[in-house]
Amino acid sequence: MSRLSPAGRKALLTLHLVTSLGWLGADLVLLALGVAGLCGADPAVVYPAAGLLVTYLFAPLSVAVWLVGLASALLTPWGLLRWRWVLVKFAITTAMLGLVLLLLTPTVRRLGTLGPDLAARDRLDLVIPPMVSSTLLIVMTVLSTYKPWGRLRPAAPAARLPAALKRRN
Ligand code: HEM
Repeated sequence: MSRLSPAGRKALLTLHLVTSLGWLGADLVLLALGVAGLCGADPAVVYPAAGLLVTYLFAPLSVAVWLVGLASALLTPWGLLRWRWVLVKFAITTAMLGLVLLLLTPTVRRLGTLGPDLAARDRLDLVIPPMVSSTLLIVMTVLSTYKPWGRLRPAAPAARLPAALKRRN
């Protein structure tokens, strides 16, 4: 059951695409900073910049993506619990949101305060997590366009009626 007009649905989908793919873009910038830091770029520039990016763009976007994604499911005929691809995306995004807010944001902000003598292990904290999350975001983009695995439950009998029959009822 769709609760949005066609124009409202297009606007919501546009917002969903801008926020979710913007999230992927911000993630790739974090990864680029992490690789630069690992390859010896000035830590006094790289890690404070990553701290600002994560605080003012990446973390807020992760909340926006979760909320707009949830709305895209609940306010359109896709629903949240009808199609496997939607539920898998919701589960991955929820896990990512938790990790971004509870682990990544404090860790990256701490890196920005450590000064020039960062160990290689610390520098990897800005390489491995963005690598994993960018991969997950690309996987979710592919899931969204291919929409694999079908329904979680068979459609309700009314939804399976041919259109002509439905019009008569
Ligand atoms: C809370 C998490 C999410 C949920 C519940 C969700 C749900 C949905 C739903 C229901 C649609 C169809 C909207 C419509 O037809 O009007 C959709 C489309 C889409 N989503 Fe998500 N999404 C989530 C997160 C993401 C993320 C993280 C990405 C990518 C990084 C993403 C990428 C896309 C793309 C590219 C489409 C367009 C597919 C198309 O129109 O063929 N979504 N999403």
